[in-house]
Parts: sequence; structure tokens; C-alpha cells
Amino acid sequence: MTTPLLNVATLRSHFPVFDQTLPNGEPVTFLDTAASAQKPRVVIDAERAVQETHYANAYRGVYQFGAQIDDELEASREAVRQFINAEDRSEIAFTSGTTMSLNLIAFGWAARHLKEGDEILLNRMEHHANLVPWQQVAARSGAVIRYIPLTENGQLDLSQLDSFLTEKTKLLSVTGMSNVLGTINPINELSKRIHEVGGIIVVDAAQSVPHKVVDVIADNIDFLAFSGHKLYGPTGIGILYGRQELLAETNPILFGGHMIDRVYDDHSTWAQPPAKFEAGTIPIVQAIALKPAIDFVNEVGLHTLHEHESELTRYAHECLNKIPGMHIYGPPPEEKGAIISFTLEGAHPEDLAHLLDRKGVFVRHGHHCTMPLHDFLKVSATVRVSFGAYNTTDDIDRLIGAIHFARERLRLT
Ligand SMILES: Cc1ncc(COP(=O)(O)O)c(C=O)c1O
Repeated sequence: MTTPLLNVATLRSHFPVFDQTLPNGEPVTFLDTAASAQKPRVVIDAERAVQETHYANAYRGVYQFGAQIDDELEASREAVRQFINAEDRSEIAFTSGTTMSLNLIAFGWAARHLKEGDEILLNRMEHHANLVPWQQVAARSGAVIRYIPLTENGQLDLSQLDSFLTEKTKLLSVTGMSNVLGTINPINELSKRIHEVGGIIVVDAAQSVPHKVVDVIADNIDFLAFSGHKLYGPTGIGILYGRQELLAETNPILFGGHMIDRVYDDHSTWAQPPAKFEAGTIPIVQAIALKPAIDFVNEVGLHTLHEHESELTRYAHECLNKIPGMHIYGPPPEEKGAIISFTLEGAHPEDLAHLLDRKGVFVRHGHHCTMPLHDFLKVSATVRVSFGAYNTTDDIDRLIGAIHFARERLRLT
């Protein structure tokens, strides 16, 4: 399937940030999409258009601007519904991002349902946003956290899953794709297994949603969380998806305007979902501009994006592996998403990131909010490169050139 957007050179031209040369004369080689994606012009324009022509607060005013804003917000909610194939628009709540959505599930649903001795199933490749809220819930409820072991390749060791799934396992929370190793987790299989013992599955889709099709019905997902800013959309907007029955039994965790049904002197009742979870003024402009981001991804096609990024990942592995002292963590390229984390013998990740920056190559270094994973890998930090729609093999060639430059500077040759 091809559309005019699919020529990668054309695709890149939709992102104004690449229309520049850096002060040192280098082009922008952006390899940090896993942290946050660059924005296509349609998203930037949509944000500006709302503010220049019909901005108003949401779900409050009956005047023309207010009504238009409400319609656009609902169109965006509908775009999200279709994007993840949810059954009903009421299952989609606007939040500030994945972290907020996961906290909402943890404190709104799990804190209400878990009791002493119940088990929460996690694993050590999770982002802190999918670890710390569960630790907090466990500490308050007396629930116990158990970790599915990882294989040497950084994949879930499913051969051990049986011993972790019992009638005590009430919840399994797992990332769709690791933000460090690129590992893609078998959500369909995990959802089947947790449901067999009567538990629910929570999917942190922050990294998976921008790269592969997520279908909450086909995969039987109970709760799902993701962020707009990793999906070529604005910052400050995220999504909480929950099955209707589950959202009905989820408490709000923020209280105030818009989320109420009736307020009395001494107590209040709540609006129906999703309003129940949207207290206060939501990020109106950002929520509206999430729709053009989703439209953009749909127009390119997630399957095409996935193929393009897989090819980049394969090529990057091949080139990186030729560099002396290179150690890449995680599964082989054909079994993972567009993220590669590595260390280079003799080079501290932070020094390497600084030296790559001198060549206009932007990468992330550190623990990437995954300290337990780095403990498992027995390193305190790695360098991470990650790809998006706009990257090309030229970017990888520049990365490799910059690593050689760094090796010379560090006298590793
Ligand atoms: C897998 C994963 N989960 C959660 C998050 C947190 O996302 P946010 O900061 O948008 O809330 C990230 C961000 O890097 C992530 O990669």
C-alpha cells in the first residue's frame, strides 16, 4: 500500500524541525523519538488554528466557540477510539499522559479492589511509570508485587509464567514495547493467560502505539495508557482506555469541576465516564491537536511505519555491530521495535552523548527511567537511539560517523 506520504523523503518534509542546519553547520539527526516525537506541520498548525480562531474552555459554553471546541474534542476522542478499536467513546478519557493514566488505574481501580495477599504481576523491563504506582498501591493495600523473569535477551521468560499465575494474581501490568530494549511483548497471549486466572491486564502502550497496531478488542485489553507526545502529537495530553465495566468501578483520583454529577454540602456524586476522570480544565488545544497526529499516522499507515522502522533498526544493528567495543542490549532486530540501547567499551554513555551532539546527533543516555532493568543488565547507564517516521538510513550513517569521531576523541582507536 502506498500513498504520497510514503516516500520517506516526503515524509520528513512534513516536519519543519528538519528544515534547519544547526549553528555548527550540521543537519539535525534526531534519534530520540522514544523520549518524545517531533511534530508534523499538521499538528503545529492545528494548535495554532484553535488559538487563533475559536479558542474557548471545553464542555462549558453554549456559545459558538464553546460548541466548536466541544465538537472538536469529541472528534479527537472518536479518532482515538477508532485508532485503538475501542467499543465506545466513553471508554476514552483524556489525561495528561501515560504516567497520569497509569496512576489513575493504580489508585482509581487497583487501590479500590486489591487486598492483602493479592498479587500484582510486573517485570523488570518496565518504565518507572509502570512500577512506582504499583509499589505505592502494594504498600497501601498489602498486595504483593511479583516479577516475571526476563531471559538473557531481555524478553519475558514465558516458560516460567505458569508458576506466577494463580488465583491470587489480580492484575498484570506490562509494556507493549520496552523503551530501552525495544522488546515487543505478546499482549494477546498475556491477556489470555491472566484472564484464565480471573485477573485483569493493564497495558502501558506509550512506546507501542506509535509503531504498531494496538487493538484493545482483539487483544482483550482491560486498561491501556499512552501519551500524545510520543505519537507525533502535542505534550500534556494522554489517554486512559478502560473497558466500560471497569471504568464504572474506577474511582476518580482528581476532584473538582466537570467530573461531578451533583454536589451537596457534605458529599458529591460523579459524572459518568469519561467526564468522571477529567476534572478541571483539560488540555483543550492539545487534545484537539491529537486528532491530526492520529490522522497523520493513519495516512502513512502503521504497517508501513513499522516496516520502515524495522528496516532502519536492522540496518543500525548491522552498522553498530561492526564498531569495536560495541555492546547492544535486548533481542535481535527482527524481534523488536525501533529502539536500540548500547554501551561502548571505554566510553561513559554521558560522554558519548555529548560527543555525538557535537555532530548534531541527538541521542539519550542514562537509565531511561528503568533502574531495575539496568540492574538486571548490570550497567548503570546505556546510550539509546530510537527511530520515528522521519528517520532515514542517512541518519544512521551520521550516527556511525559520529561514534567514530567520539572514539577518536576518547582515544579508543
Ligand atoms: C514505556 C513507557 N511508559 C511510560 C512512559 C511515561 O510517559 P509520559 O512521560 O508521557 O507520562 C514512558 C516515557 O518515556 C515510556 O517509555
